[in-house]
Amino acid sequence: MAHLLHIDSSPRGDRSHSRRLTREFVEAWQQTHPADTVTYRDVGRQPVPHVDEPWIVAAYAPPEQRTPELWEAIRVSDQLIDELIAADILVIGLPMYNFSVPSTFKAYLDQIVRVGRTFAIDPEDAEDPYKPLLLGKKMFVITARGSSGFGPGERYGHMNHQDPYLRVAFGFIGITDITFVHVENDEHSSESLAASIAAAQAQVAQLVAA
Ligand SMILES: Cc1cc2nc3c(=O)[nH]c(=O)nc-3n(C[C@H](O)[C@H](O)[C@H](O)COP(=O)(O)O)c2cc1C
Repeated sequence: MAHLLHIDSSPRGDRSHSRRLTREFVEAWQQTHPADTVTYRDVGRQPVPHVDEPWIVAAYAPPEQRTPELWEAIRVSDQLIDELIAADILVIGLPMYNFSVPSTFKAYLDQIVRVGRTFAIDPEDAEDPYKPLLLGKKMFVITARGSSGFGPGERYGHMNHQDPYLRVAFGFIGITDITFVHVENDEHSSESLAASIAAAQAQVAQLVAA
């Protein structure tokens, strides 16, 4: 039995392609794995806070030195990290915004990439002191984009800071098994969008079946 964490980050409702496809993914998953459980987190419509100075003080203070105020400053971060640690599989809906991720998703990342909880620093290891703490998880990311051609060597490949960035940020905390599904052409012809949605749906069905 596995536990899924389903995260959406589009501010759009029914018009969101990433939101629709993550829902289809999770519904299909539950049909084929009825014993699996799901936690849902919507950072697009219920944004998490940005980190602030008390957060930074608290996150870098040794736990035994934290005051009740400092524990409160990282309460949401702890909750989001507990949710992440509990998950075996992550399913993330992620629009491309200005060649990267929506700021709401960046705010989420800033809450969960935390020293002592999702990565460690080993001062003895001068070559690479950063140690990932979340190992063995699988992640599926469904991106949505207005245009297309963001793959390596394609016309906008050099402008793509969305999926390469996600690989770096989640890889840093130990999540390296990441599969991407892309819905593209939201800003182009309805035919090219429909073809991209159909291809993404077929890929989702294949991933869930596998
Ligand atoms: C603020 C904003 C910035 C965007 N930036 C890009 C971009 O850099 N590249 C792109 O291809 N599409 C861009 N788009 C289009 C969205 O990626 C596209 O509409 C996508 O379908 C949004 O995801 P959703 O359908 O899940 O809401 C942008 C849209 C918005 C609202």
